[in-house]
Amino acid sequence: MTTLAQTQPYLKRLFERIDLAPRPIGVETSRALEHWRASRRGVAPTFADVVADLRHGGFAFRAVPEARDYEIVIGAKAVAPLLGAVAEGARLSEAPNRRGAVRLRRLFDEALRAGEPALVEFTLVEKGRDRAGVELLAAPLALADGALGAVLGALNIQRYEAPAPAHEPPPATDEPIALFALGSSRALGERVARELAITLSPHEERRFEDEERKTRPLVGVRDKDVYVLASLEGETGDSGADKLLRLLFFIGALRDAGAARVTAVTPYLCYARKDRRTKPLDPVATRYVAQLLEAIGADRIVAIDAHNIAAFENAFRIEAVALDAQALFARYFAHRLGAEPAAIVSPDLGGEKRAELFRQRLETILAHPVAKGFMDKHRSMGEIAGEIFAGDVAGRAVVILDDLISSGGTMARAARACRANGATRIFLAATHGLFARDADSALREAPIEEIVVTDTVALSEAVAQRLRGRLVTLGVAPLLAEAIARLHSGGSIDELLDTGPKGAP
Ligand code: R5P
Repeated sequence: MTTLAQTQPYLKRLFERIDLAPRPIGVETSRALEHWRASRRGVAPTFADVVADLRHGGFAFRAVPEARDYEIVIGAKAVAPLLGAVAEGARLSEAPNRRGAVRLRRLFDEALRAGEPALVEFTLVEKGRDRAGVELLAAPLALADGALGAVLGALNIQRYEAPAPAHEPPPATDEPIALFALGSSRALGERVARELAITLSPHEERRFEDEERKTRPLVGVRDKDVYVLASLEGETGDSGADKLLRLLFFIGALRDAGAARVTAVTPYLCYARKDRRTKPLDPVATRYVAQLLEAIGADRIVAIDAHNIAAFENAFRIEAVALDAQALFARYFAHRLGAEPAAIVSPDLGGEKRAELFRQRLETILAHPVAKGFMDKHRSMGEIAGEIFAGDVAGRAVVILDDLISSGGTMARAARACRANGATRIFLAATHGLFARDADSALREAPIEEIVVTDTVALSEAVAQRLRGRLVTLGVAPLLAEAIARLHSGGSIDELLDTGPKGAP
């Protein structure tokens, strides 16, 4: 962390904050940084490597040292909100928006000087009270001769209307539903908002030098039916516990601001695996998470494939809505497997009920028998054991269904057992692709044709790259949108789970 923006007058005029150990909050900036880190060899990745695979909406510039300028190579559209209309090949000095160009040049200079990525934050004043909070990343790139001479950049802009003077309350959203999406759930939130045909409500997330955070709505919520979308998976620099605390405080702020009803929508709910005591004096984390949400004033919680539905429903005294991705997986695999003999396997006994419901659902759609199987599994001190496999998988395509993939160990050993018992093709289906630690290497070595997950968790660019070719992601936005619409208007959630969103089988 640095206070460069405070101490260097030329930077202070341009930026509110500059950080040389960046931990971006925005989706585009986070993805660009991950891409940079994943491609890094030595001091910095090469310009050629990074630019060949620029899928996260970033941009790249090459230094023109003799002119003390930078030339845009790719991503003119992505950087246009700062520079105005520019074409690839143009120089910063030619950009219509002079201040934007100065900001970029200063930031690029800093990143190349430090040899590390740099992240800045500043506020753009657009017209009247319109403001935009900007997060801008620049990361150095090496040219063919190894010298640092180019930058990878990304921009994250959050538009909002500046709060009115203190005596006036902030304007209330005129949407019937106020939907906020925190942190890395923003992209999913935008998809849900699109399905609901509403605009995502704006909020501000600030990170202070000592890592404390502040998250507040930027629109009035008095008497509103408010939904806060926050998947609570841990990621580098932002644990599930950090995200949970931010969600709690945000709900507290909404309550203080007079929201009529607040629903926490946590597609992935953290700490749900510790739902009972397995050792003396163990905590029961699921219940403690429930108590925290209730204490701060949440009226309702919605989760998708909570680890143990009974534990989830029992932990909360407020309404706990348990959605599942069964209809999404069934639609996908009915199409994928067609008439092929198939079996559904649970990789542990705890997931057997989930797998059996899925098997029945798939059997109904396919209108031919689908076999089943399951695997024994014990986990103690992080080690997985248990070798017993029971099931009719010989000569069949197998779908191994679980709620989540974390280290990948559970799925990899089940896949090996299925192959040893004669399965022809092996697919993994898991609602939450957490892909922690070395999951991709555990899965790479297992006999798996395809890994199908949903987008409850924002996948890191690095993981997506490493599992490329075998990873399929199904979208949960229609399911969440339909659930929110029904909760708002008093519709049936059971019916939604029976039919799936938008009439999916
Ligand atoms: C545990 O009971 C869960 O349902 C998953 O099977 C487990 O958490 C997966 O973890 P990993 O991928 O680390 O084996």
